[in-house]
Amino acid sequence: MSKETIILFVGDVVGGIGRRTFEALLPSLRERHAATFVVVNGENAAGGIGITSKVARELFAAGADVITLGNHTYRHREVYDYLDSEERILRPANFLRSQPGHGWCVVERDGIRLGVVSLSGNLFMNASRPAFVEADAVLNALEQESVDHVLVDMHAEATSEKIGIGWYLDGRVTAVVGTHTHVPTADARVLPGGTAYITDAGMTGPRGGVIGVKREQAIESMLTRMPVKFETSSEDPWLNGVLIRAAEPMRATAIEPVLEPAPGVH
Ligand SMILES: [Fe+2]
Ligand SMILES: [Fe+2]
Repeated sequence: MSKETIILFVGDVVGGIGRRTFEALLPSLRERHAATFVVVNGENAAGGIGITSKVARELFAAGADVITLGNHTYRHREVYDYLDSEERILRPANFLRSQPGHGWCVVERDGIRLGVVSLSGNLFMNASRPAFVEADAVLNALEQESVDHVLVDMHAEATSEKIGIGWYLDGRVTAVVGTHTHVPTADARVLPGGTAYITDAGMTGPRGGVIGVKREQAIESMLTRMPVKFETSSEDPWLNGVLIRAAEPMRATAIEPVLEPAPGVH
């Protein structure tokens, strides 16, 4: 019987409030759940949109092993070089090869090797290459890396596309977690082939806003259909994510939501 591997995946960290929530809650979460690895989506970590190298370093210092991104990857030009040089920050693998950064990496702890893959959906998203085809290519490449587990972050708008890739990769990876919609879904389960799956892990940030934005600004925009400056809400911060347990290579035994309020964080 091999040692249990536990992966904590944290949904999109939104702005300073999301970072402070992550930093405040992660030490106790990591200890309570004996997490081997922490993977966090950081595509909204800098001011609510995108990420900078300083903010990425902050997330790593707080305990993230790998940072995944999404459609807001290139918001801050400053981060482009960092995306190329830092192995553990990932933009979707199915972006153009000419775009800065890379889409997968391998990290190791306690003798366990975890491959992490970032993918973007194609429906209502602007990824230039097909997610399903790229998933096969990345899994082929990972075969040379003798990984014990693989976690895929499918950053996508359409629930159908996320469920589709979950089934497509079932039995071939340890977990497929959805991100981007910022709202946790109630469908976490281990698929029959052994892949832990959830359509959306949710968001680490202010639940008092509209998927991260101050609610009065979001409502004004929807009501008036005129341009409105969006700022990150600071109301009612929560950490959303999932905990994945695995014993045998590439097989999950459980996936459970992690939904933690952070009332003391401002
Ligand atoms: Fe996001
Ligand atoms: Fe997104």
